[in-house]
Amino acid sequence: MSHRKLEGRARAMKPRHFIDIEAIDAATLRRIVDNAHAMKKAGRRVPAHLAPKDIADQVLLMIFEKPSTRTRVSFDVAMRQLGGQTISLNHADLQTGRGESPSDTAKVLSRYGDAIMIRAHAHASITELADNATVPVINGLTNRSHPCQILADIMTFEERSGDIKGRQIAWVGDGNNVAVSWMQAAVRFDFALRIACPAQLKPERDVIDWVAKNGGKVELFDEAADAVKGADCVVTDTWVSMGQSDESWRKQLLAPYAVDKGLMQCAAKDAIFMHCLPAYRGHEVSAEVIDGPQSVVFDEAENRLHAQKAILAWCLGA
Ligand code: CP
Ligand code: NVA
Repeated sequence: MSHRKLEGRARAMKPRHFIDIEAIDAATLRRIVDNAHAMKKAGRRVPAHLAPKDIADQVLLMIFEKPSTRTRVSFDVAMRQLGGQTISLNHADLQTGRGESPSDTAKVLSRYGDAIMIRAHAHASITELADNATVPVINGLTNRSHPCQILADIMTFEERSGDIKGRQIAWVGDGNNVAVSWMQAAVRFDFALRIACPAQLKPERDVIDWVAKNGGKVELFDEAADAVKGADCVVTDTWVSMGQSDESWRKQLLAPYAVDKGLMQCAAKDAIFMHCLPAYRGHEVSAEVIDGPQSVVFDEAENRLHAQKAILAWCLGA
């Protein structure tokens, strides 16, 4: 079939994009996380039922508009462990860096590769790319959300603390892109999320409204200790996300939201600490907490690999 016809068909029958947790149903997300656990158990061998068809001939194109260590390397290794191939592209080296539209880029790259993973500044770039691609598009972080991270985080929680359904997670700090994906996950995986953040750095209004409309158990607090009280897991992230310039204003606002030993003592006794990394010790988290016994941050980082394999397998039709 010609690509023009494929493009027409793609508009009618979308490929399996992984753009946001809110866009995927709960049963599918549950299956992806279960498959991530199965991928981890299988090590480098991929369970036969999770191996995408003709994977040896498939190429994942990875585009980075911002830096990345974990997302870049875990997607690259994940695709290779599945048996496929990868090409990593920096925004500055592409014509997108000179203004070529996401729409044209999507139509071109769909004729070369079998899936596109992109880390972008604007969320709209990813949605435009996905609307025009005939292959799956995966969100490797935007200013709005970071869905791949949260599937790895849920997997990590479940390894340590059992089923996340009905449990209590506390988010402390900036109501940023990672917090938004946690909020969407609270609805889809049915857990309680208690967010403590300054009024000026609350998550986007439309996400708060979407959660409320979908019966999510997400509550906002001013005080960190109130959100953390009795939590099974405490999560934070950097105070200054990639691309943000108002560093000293943010640091001043967020100082009361630092996660230290005293704050962790408000959580449940066996609570774990999570952070997507990169972390800044002495700012959003003390060294004592992130390097202490409750911290699971390096399991989280490892689980990006296993979760990525499960996401790729789903996108590629397994
Ligand atoms: N957590 C995360 O996405 O890390 P990178 O920015 O290194 O990819
Ligand atoms: N909120 C951070 C996450 C980094 C993985 C950022 O966007 O920079």
